[in-house]
Amino acid sequence: MARPPSVLFTPIQVGSVEIPNRFVRSATHEFMAEDDGTPTERQAEVYRKLAEGEVGLIITGHAYVNPEGKASPRQTGIFDDRFIGPLSRLSSAVLGTPSRIFVQIAHAGRQSKKRLCGGTPIAPSAVFDPSSKVHPREMTAADIRATVEDFVQAARRAQEAGFDGVQIHAAHGYLLSTFISPHTNRRTDEWGGSVENRSRILVEIIRGIKTVCGPEFPVIIKLNSTDFLPTGLSVEDAVAIARILEAEGLDGVEVSGGMAESGRGSVWQGLRAEDEEGYFTENAAKFKAALKIPVSGLGGNRTLAVMDKFIRQGRADMISLSRPLIRDPFLVRKFRFGEAVKSECVSCNKCFNPRGISCGDLKRAK
Ligand SMILES: Cc1cc2nc3c(=O)[nH]c(=O)nc-3n(C[C@H](O)[C@H](O)[C@H](O)COP(=O)(O)O)c2cc1C
Ligand code: SF4
Repeated sequence: MARPPSVLFTPIQVGSVEIPNRFVRSATHEFMAEDDGTPTERQAEVYRKLAEGEVGLIITGHAYVNPEGKASPRQTGIFDDRFIGPLSRLSSAVLGTPSRIFVQIAHAGRQSKKRLCGGTPIAPSAVFDPSSKVHPREMTAADIRATVEDFVQAARRAQEAGFDGVQIHAAHGYLLSTFISPHTNRRTDEWGGSVENRSRILVEIIRGIKTVCGPEFPVIIKLNSTDFLPTGLSVEDAVAIARILEAEGLDGVEVSGGMAESGRGSVWQGLRAEDEEGYFTENAAKFKAALKIPVSGLGGNRTLAVMDKFIRQGRADMISLSRPLIRDPFLVRKFRFGEAVKSECVSCNKCFNPRGISCGDLKRAK
């Protein structure tokens, strides 16, 4: 028996693309690509299941736009045209279903490591990262221009590979979030200082993608709303940045937070009470009040009624889920049929398996 209609199961427009419901599979690195970045059939299988499970918008794990921006082993590469063929096998996995699929395009910046990226990791300013122990190299203006082009070319490859859109990763201490954070961006040229200057790299990337892929090709962003650092990004600045990007044609924002250096990322451990679910939703509501484009609320969303409430109260337009969909890729479908009202994910973080994500808690229980 179908549940009574919930706003969560109504469609929403993200740019030119209609998403059949409000559920987003937040980008989740699968640890399943080949060592050289080539995507695999195992990943296609993950997306096939998520589409079968009726996730409206599936966002792939972060794909690196340049080898110097590699964050992790077994991460998907999108830095060369040779990946277009294998990437198209991923987008094909959801063909024939109502689900849409976007690639998350990313550069790890100072959260990469020499052994992964082959040199000294780069950043807007040479600010030491105590978590990775990396002393990054400050980017030159030419490096910044080249990085803009890397993101634009990555989006072109995503489009040629049949993806419905891209999500720019500007969260969690990766390169683009270090540009918008005053803690990690100490530049005094046109790429640092004011909110306008700190968001310039994102503006250039969005303009470049819209020029190369066409204005209809959806571009969304995962944006930090806080770094959890006293000298870091404020939510007010983050909202101001989103407004600048909206004026450039950005099609949606997923509101996240965290930076390795602060010891607080976006993947919070431990079960929370229902009234503490959606831990970035309070920030998302501030974006929602200032923007016309869809805003997705993220972080510890577990209970259907709470997610429904967030949308009805106008705090978000969409709901992002990562770990609940590792635990059960069919969760959204179960919600729709009334077979589940809450995710069974216990937020233990045992799914970070370097040989491929899976629910460690479920395995332990078997
Ligand atoms: C195994 C794993 C891999 C992740 N990979 C990414 C990623 O590639 N890009 C990203 O932006 N966030 C990534 N995240 C963070 C999630 O997208 C999400 O922001 C976070 O887990 C909070 O949502 P949740 O409580 O629904 O899991 C990852 C999380 C997990 C658990
Ligand atoms: S291991 Fe399973 S229960 Fe634990 S956080 Fe990951 S998906 Fe959730």
